[in-house]
Amino acid sequence: MVKIAVIYATKTNHSKKLAQAIASALNIEAQNIKENPILKGIDMIFIVGGIYGGVSMPELIEYVNKIDEQTLKHAALVTSCASGKQMQTVVRSILEEKAVKVLDEFVCKGNFLFVSAKHPNSNDLKEAADFALKIASSNI
Ligand SMILES: Cc1cc2nc3c(=O)[nH]c(=O)nc-3n(C[C@H](O)[C@H](O)[C@H](O)COP(=O)(O)O)c2cc1C
Repeated sequence: MVKIAVIYATKTNHSKKLAQAIASALNIEAQNIKENPILKGIDMIFIVGGIYGGVSMPELIEYVNKIDEQTLKHAALVTSCASGKQMQTVVRSILEEKAVKVLDEFVCKGNFLFVSAKHPNSNDLKEAADFALKIASSNI
């Protein structure tokens, strides 16, 4: 059976909510990168984060840079940002350099100041959970 981890980095808790919705759908616990989650034996990882000044949190980039788990072969990204359009491109390229295949990226709105107010909302959380279930049940 594929061993999955859900990790997140957050400034304003949107990623925590998204990660918890995903983890709950997968019957596992979401882990904050602040706790330096250990990925021993993990095959597939969901990485949940926001976008700040166009990029992911430096702490998340540092965590992903340090990943050295030989079993880890697949990843999926879950991203929220005010525009609802920016992606975790730096995280993706670090994973690809490590030969971890990024299967897909789900992007939703996450409010900042007055932009994208009330997002991520319950529908965003459901869509993120559905995205994760679809990936986890695919042939990885
Ligand atoms: C300091 C800061 C900078 C941000 N910069 C961007 C940005 O460049 N582009 C964007 O679309 N959203 C930007 N946002 C919005 C966040 O990406 C969005 O609120 C996201 O959902 C935050 O996730 P979090 O609550 O997990 O930290 C920014 C938010 C903050 C607080």
